[in-house]
Amino acid sequence: MRIGIFGTGGMADALGTQWARAGHDLLVSGRDPAKAAALAKQFGARSGSWSDAVEFADAILLALPAESVLDVLDTAGAASGALDGKILIDPTNAIDETLFPQTPPGISMAELITAKAVGAHVVKAFNLCHVDVWRLTPPVFDGRPLAVPLCGGDERALDHVRTLVRDLGCVPIDGGGLDRAVLMEATMAFVVKLWFDGADAQAILPPATV
Ligand SMILES: NC(=O)c1ccc[n+]([C@@H]2O[C@H](COP(=O)([O-])OP(=O)(O)OC[C@H]3O[C@@H](n4cnc5c(N)ncnc54)[C@H](OP(=O)(O)O)[C@@H]3O)[C@@H](O)[C@H]2O)c1
Repeated sequence: MRIGIFGTGGMADALGTQWARAGHDLLVSGRDPAKAAALAKQFGARSGSWSDAVEFADAILLALPAESVLDVLDTAGAASGALDGKILIDPTNAIDETLFPQTPPGISMAELITAKAVGAHVVKAFNLCHVDVWRLTPPVFDGRPLAVPLCGGDERALDHVRTLVRDLGCVPIDGGGLDRAVLMEATMAFVVKLWFDGADAQAILPPATV
């Protein structure tokens, strides 16, 4: 798969490293061309502008702070259809220091991205775990591979992202349509607060029936 990576920080590095290792072709783009070139070199890949990544990629990982994603998509020509048919993988968590979602009530980042990027197929994924989890090869806990829920409305896009999840050694889980992404984003905000408060968040979801 041809994957564009927007961003040069932790998530870009963690997921890009895994996908480069799995044999995908990557192109890294960031606001600092030197950082993009350095990360691309690490992957054995190319770097370029936002538009270069859009032109190159089947799928684009939006590894950017939530507050900058929509502006970057604008710069990449989202409103004029430059992303038509592209898969946008959205790992963003729009939470600030209050640990509440910063999107309008009932609206997810994934839906705001969909509204911005005409014709693109957004898949919400990879937002529930810390970047260090995405670096594990593979992410397995107590003998169980990490399960990764995906929310999206386009079956072909979901299928591609399922492949990318399996490439990490994880198991994709059907999280429902993009209208469910708001719940996934709120879940992250809830769980982060538990972690910050020192709770064992992993212990809160036992099997539904015992
Ligand atoms: N870190 C985690 O544990 C984690 C886990 C799950 C999901 N996420 C989500 O994944 C996304 C990326 O997180 P991250 O940890 O990779 O962040 P990060 O390490 O801080 O990297 C952010 C990247 O975005 C760039 N950036 C910042 N502001 C920008 C702007 N206004 N315009 C263009 N580019 C900008 C940064 O560029 P510079 O280097 O030039 O500043 C950097 O390349 C976030 O939405 C986060 O909520 C993070």
